[in-house]
Amino acid sequence: MKITTKINLLTTAWMLCILVVINFVVYFLFVQNTVTMEEDVQFHKAKEIMKEVGGTPTTNDLDTALKKHLTEHSFIRIMGPGDELIHQVTNDSMLSSKIEGKFAENKEAKNHVIKNQRHEEQVLVVRVPFGNGEQSLEIVERLEGLEARKETLKGILIACTVLAAVFSLLGGRWLANTIMRPISNMIKTMEEIETSGVPKTLSIEKRENDELQTMAQTFNRMISRIQGNMAKQAQFVSDASHELKTPLTVIKSYANLLRRHGVENKEIADEAIQAIHSEATRIQKMTDTFLDLADLEKENVLEISQIDLVALSRSSIKQLQEVYHREISLHTDASRVIIPADELKIKQVIIILLDNAMKYSSDKIDVYIEKVGDLAVLRVKDYGIGIPKEEITNIFERFYRVDKARSRETGGTGLGLHIARSIMKLHLGEINIRSEEGKGTEVELVFVG
Ligand SMILES: Nc1ncnc2c1ncn2[C@@H]1O[C@H](COP(=O)(O)OP(=O)(O)O)[C@@H](O)[C@H]1O
Ligand SMILES: [Mg+2]
Repeated sequence: MKITTKINLLTTAWMLCILVVINFVVYFLFVQNTVTMEEDVQFHKAKEIMKEVGGTPTTNDLDTALKKHLTEHSFIRIMGPGDELIHQVTNDSMLSSKIEGKFAENKEAKNHVIKNQRHEEQVLVVRVPFGNGEQSLEIVERLEGLEARKETLKGILIACTVLAAVFSLLGGRWLANTIMRPISNMIKTMEEIETSGVPKTLSIEKRENDELQTMAQTFNRMISRIQGNMAKQAQFVSDASHELKTPLTVIKSYANLLRRHGVENKEIADEAIQAIHSEATRIQKMTDTFLDLADLEKENVLEISQIDLVALSRSSIKQLQEVYHREISLHTDASRVIIPADELKIKQVIIILLDNAMKYSSDKIDVYIEKVGDLAVLRVKDYGIGIPKEEITNIFERFYRVDKARSRETGGTGLGLHIARSIMKLHLGEINIRSEEGKGTEVELVFVG
């Protein structure tokens, strides 16, 4: 069953239940109220009769007095103790034959239902003590007005209920359609995405800021993110292929050279093998970096533990010094600076920064570590070529290099700083660069403690 039909039927059924209960209450209260009113009238009539007739009236007086108070379809009786009939005046002999007279010591009112061939009739019987309590007065009346009004009320209530059901069905359909339209749109768009494989956003109608609007906006945000990621991925594939193209072209041309006359010429052969080896190494490094990058795109990649930034920097510096024989000094007042971080990833960042400092400077390199309040700060400072001001914002982009030729010579891919920033972002930290062309560069890592 469609959700609109379901909503419609359920709301209508529920509304009908409520209406039926309300109708019963209204009907019941109406009948009770009318009967009580009628009782009051009859008791009042009894009082009047007693006032008029007084102590011990003659039968004639009694007859006239009682007759005066007779209404249509009613009778009045005087009963003696032991239920004997003392006097009766009637306007409806059938009614008086059906209701048995009864002596009553106390004031009472009773409802009787008498069955006719055609329908039931409600009869009100009121009894009050009469003439010093030795007799009782009995006034009986058919509640004709009540019968008629009951029927009218029943008709009105049924008609209203039916009307309400019809309106509820119509209104429910309209409401369900209004609610479902954006959802149906969304389903349509999702189906289109499913068949075409191309993410697409929903066109959002200008409406109030309701849950459906929020749902459509959330859906659009999600789609935009997917679109963004897909674009990024496509860009990456294109950039990466482009990067791989240069070394592969070099390898291919040296291989061609070897094929033509390299093997006879020892000099050419050596040069070619050397170049092929170095370009292949370059490709290998590059693919390793690509894998690193792909790893960072995943969520929850960090393995956090309490690490000592000083010890980690010291060991990284030592490792690089052994290979490159460069002067790198660590300056810090603290013997230990503990931060929650992924040790391997932070080591990777430190090495990326030191690698850049070594590549783009020839002088010494200074590393500073300090605690600033809750923060831990690590700075790598070199006195090399520096970065032009207008380039500083670009160097975190993937594959971006200020001087392509130079960077190629030094074996850079333009991914180092991008990876460093991704890792710092995962740690909720910061990476900042201050640089002056020709004077040097300082890269700062800020960790939250
Ligand atoms: N310490 C530095 N001094 C001067 N230029 C730098 C320094 N660090 C980075 N750069 C510039 O930023 C670019 C991007 O750096 P990076 O992402 O590490 O790529 P790569 O080192 O592979 O070229 C480098 O190509 C270089 O132009
Ligand atoms: Mg680098």
